[in-house]
Parts: sequence; C-alpha cells; structure tokens
Amino acid sequence: MFEKLDEPRLDPIISLMSAYREDLRAEKMDLGIGVYRNDEGITPVMSAVKKAEQELMDNQLSKGYVGLAGDEAFNQSMIDLLLGGTAAEMRASALQTPGASGALRLLGELMYQANPKTTIWVSNPSYVNHQPVMEAAGLKVAFYPYFDPVSKQLDTEGMMSCVEKLGPDDVLLLHGCCHNPTGVDIELSHWQMIAEMSQKQGFLPFVDIAYQGFGDGLEADRAGLKILADNVDELLVATSCSKNFGLYRERTGAAVLVGKTKSEAVKARGLMFEIARATYTMPPDHGAAVVTKILSQPELKTLWEAELNQMLARIKDLRTGLVEAFNQATGDNRFDYFGRHRGMFSMTGLSAAQANALREDHGIYIVGDGRVNVAGLQKDQIDYLVKCFLAIGA
Ligand code: LMR
Repeated sequence: MFEKLDEPRLDPIISLMSAYREDLRAEKMDLGIGVYRNDEGITPVMSAVKKAEQELMDNQLSKGYVGLAGDEAFNQSMIDLLLGGTAAEMRASALQTPGASGALRLLGELMYQANPKTTIWVSNPSYVNHQPVMEAAGLKVAFYPYFDPVSKQLDTEGMMSCVEKLGPDDVLLLHGCCHNPTGVDIELSHWQMIAEMSQKQGFLPFVDIAYQGFGDGLEADRAGLKILADNVDELLVATSCSKNFGLYRERTGAAVLVGKTKSEAVKARGLMFEIARATYTMPPDHGAAVVTKILSQPELKTLWEAELNQMLARIKDLRTGLVEAFNQATGDNRFDYFGRHRGMFSMTGLSAAQANALREDHGIYIVGDGRVNVAGLQKDQIDYLVKCFLAIGA
C-alpha cells in the first residue's frame, strides 16, 4: 500500500522549525513560525499561566473525561472575551477545540454539511493553513484581493469589489486582527460595510481571530468583530489561546457559532460534536483549564492582562526600532511599513529567492512568502537584520 502514496508536501512554516533547529550557526535567527519571544529569545510561560497551573496541580482530583464540548466554563469565557456586550452574545454557542486549526476544520465541515456548494473566500495572501483545512473539509476555496505588495497596505478597492459580488453560497473568511501573514488590518468602516453587504447579499462572515491582544489591546482588537456581531444574523468565529495566553503546545482554541436564534446555534454545535467524535472525540483539557482559571479569578486575570500588554508593548517597540534602524541605514522611508503593520507579522515583499538567501547566507529564517515574525526578534538583533536585508537587495 505505501508504495502507492505520494511524497508528503512540506508545510512552509512548520518545516522551517526543524531546519532552524539543525542550523549550527551562532548568529541564526528564527523569524519564521509565529511565536512570541522575549529579549532572551525565549517563549516564556506567562506568570498567570504558571499560577493557574500550580492551582490545578494542587486541586485537580480527576483526569476523567470532560465531554464532547470540552469545558463549558471555558466555552462561556471565550464567548465573553469575543462577543461580550454585543447583540450576538445571547445567540452564541461555543465548542472547545484543539487550537484554532481544530475550530477551522470543524466549522469547515459544518459549512459543507449545511451547503456542499459553499465557496469560502480567503484573503490573498492568508494564513498558510486556511486553504488546506478548508479543502480538507470539502469546501471550494477562492481568494479575494487583500494586500498591495508595493504600498504594503490594504488593496481596499480590490477587496471590496470582490466582496460586493458574494452571495448565499459564499462564506467570507476575515482575520479579526493582526492579519497573518501581512500585518495589515481592515478599517472599522470596512467591517461596517461588510456587515451591511452580508445582510443584503446573504453571504456568511467567518472571523478567524488568533491574535487578540497583540495588535492594539484586547478591546481594540475585537472592534471589527463587534461590528459584525452587532449587525449580522449569523456569524462563525475560530479563536486561539496559543498566542495571547502563550499556550501554543497545549492546543487550546474554540469554535463560536452565532445563529439567528440561540437554539439554531446550539443545534449547529451539536452537529459539531458528531464531527469531533468522528475525528478526535474531545479536545485536550489542560490549556482550557488554565484559561478558565485565569479568566474566572480577578487577580489572575489582571496579572494576565498586564503580561499581555507588556508583550504588546514589546512588539510595538521592536516595530519602532526596525523603522528607525532602516531609516538610518537607507536614508529613506521604504521600510516604514514595519511601523504601520499590526501584530506579530509583517509582509516584506521579499521574494522566495531573497528569503532563501537570508537563510542560506545569513542564518535568518523567514517564511518563503516574505513574512517576518517581528515578535520573534530580539532588540540587539535589529542592526544585523537590517544589514542582512540590505545585503540581499531588499
Ligand atoms: C503561524 O502562522 O506561524 C502560526 O499560526 C503557527 C501555525 O500554525 O502555522
């Protein structure tokens, strides 16, 4: 049987992790996979997480199964964090999933069940896993214009004129904040227009929000999502606690469904139980248990928010540092986009050959499409990065 199988395709992000680990050069720099690092180059366990874990260690009495929905207190806390105070809050139902990728897959399969003719529209470019996950769920994937590689800004006209044509067989996948891979977010006025178009034209909005708190803060980063939640009848959301709780390997996320009525959302969630049961049965517990503890205890919540804000401030600092260093080295402002972009990533416009040269000649790992993980950088690496960018003709 095995001889009939194709060779596996390498994931453009995950494959960089192992290549980086095998690289013996002292000056090597991992700006590939989206993880936050501090100035010591470490992805730290947040103190709020450590404290919650200690409490769990001391008090957890059983490792018995939790259930198909995962932890219901966690599910409610995700609804609060994302949709609290909106018109959609009372019509929402959530399901704990193994990371946001798990949520994307379950929601993809649910959409296919609801309408096998669904086309899901994904930004060009988008998170590298969007297309594979949605195709694996059976959906047709199409791309809407998003990024202008020259200005490194949103291609507003291209995007909106595509959205204008969507109808009832279409789903529009949007990034809630901190767009991956570009760092370019849509404006609040665009969210408003999309909400109105969705109601009028009948397409379903679907928000993937994996970086809440990394752009401009927890509240500001959900402002677009809130506009949808206040103005549309139905909405899908995939969310992740990988970045804002630093729980990457714990695979902690949720799928949130907003229905025309609460009972429709609950029914749809029930169908996702079936899909989950037929794949992994139920999600891992630990990460969600930690998040629930943090969000339910005011002291831990305050500590978590303070740590999250420190991470955010550091990312902004790095962005300012990059702009200043590039300005100084080039005498022009063509790298100012680092300061305009939000979140972990910036799309640099570097070609695959230039990304290769950065890795081969200088030990700097960025994704082949030109995405740089700014949040993986250390302050004292900025000058070297700038020098190497210019050396490869950026
Ligand atoms: C990334 O885009 O680097 C992260 O979201 C990790 C992943 O799953 O690829």
